[in-house]
Amino acid sequence: MRAIAKAQPNIALIKYWGKRDPIRNLPAVGSISVTLSDLFTEMDVEIDETLKDDLLVVNGQDGNAMLARVSSCLDNVAGQDRPSARVTSNSNFPIAAGLASSASAFAALVVAADAAFGESLSGGQLASLAGRSSGSAARSLLGGFVELENHRDDIAVNSLLAADDWPLKVVIAITASGPKAVSSGEAMEVSRKTSPFYDRWVEQQASDLTEARAAVSDRELSKLALIAEHNCLKMHSVMWGSRPPMIYWNSATIACMQSIRDLQSRGVGVFFTIDAGPQVKAICEAEHEPTVRQALVATAGVVDVMVSGLGAGAKLVTA
Ligand code: DP6
Repeated sequence: MRAIAKAQPNIALIKYWGKRDPIRNLPAVGSISVTLSDLFTEMDVEIDETLKDDLLVVNGQDGNAMLARVSSCLDNVAGQDRPSARVTSNSNFPIAAGLASSASAFAALVVAADAAFGESLSGGQLASLAGRSSGSAARSLLGGFVELENHRDDIAVNSLLAADDWPLKVVIAITASGPKAVSSGEAMEVSRKTSPFYDRWVEQQASDLTEARAAVSDRELSKLALIAEHNCLKMHSVMWGSRPPMIYWNSATIACMQSIRDLQSRGVGVFFTIDAGPQVKAICEAEHEPTVRQALVATAGVVDVMVSGLGAGAKLVTA
């Protein structure tokens, strides 16, 4: 009747941008991500027959803004006739700022809800349900390097490489805090409807995925860097070409990219990626992490730097 699950956010190296079915929240493209180890969301789902409606508390505060999405995720797991639940979410990092908090939240939520409502769903079913709430959430069910495959009728997630098999570090430069103005889900719909670059983006994704898959399998950072930076900048170009344009960057975002370019020119194994927010994620070999962290701390406009390794997928903490 009560279960707590923990999940880590993931950072896409080959991005999900665009929905082929907005109602079922099916992505237009596949994607590849790394699951982090040091950032997490814990979801506590407690069934309470005495409640008329679900209750949600997020980091100690009333979570009404997210309640509809959380309730519909619980409906997807346990059916609409289910009893109400008290849901408590706690994250150890800023939410709604381009750090994939919805990914860790909904991955943890489907795992906790499955146990609390006694559903015993398969891993594939959990991925499908997590993806309905947030496309990127399905990837946080697994650890290490994860591919989200975009099949005709549904999605599937698949582990490409365990975290320990290529223990890279992710250094996150926070360049602004606070929630973003436009959610990624809304922004990708604007791109789909208005960006002249959108169709090309979708068309080219299969070859970007193939290139990244090979780089991961060979554990070659320089190969992965080339395709991941290309894919990231291409996604932002789709956004910039949308009407209205969506620009998530600030001047510190660009300064961080420049710092990473400087490190690369000095032979440091690192590359950047940026999601629907102004933060910059630098992916690097573990030995270079202190150098990368120092460079980003010293970059103008950076307000905080977080470091994470790669971690495991979502799991139950208690049931
Ligand atoms: C830029 O998973 O947040 O981070 O399915 O609408 O919830 P919804 O979108 P969401 O989009 C993530 C977009 C991205 C790229 C990525 O993580 O692949």
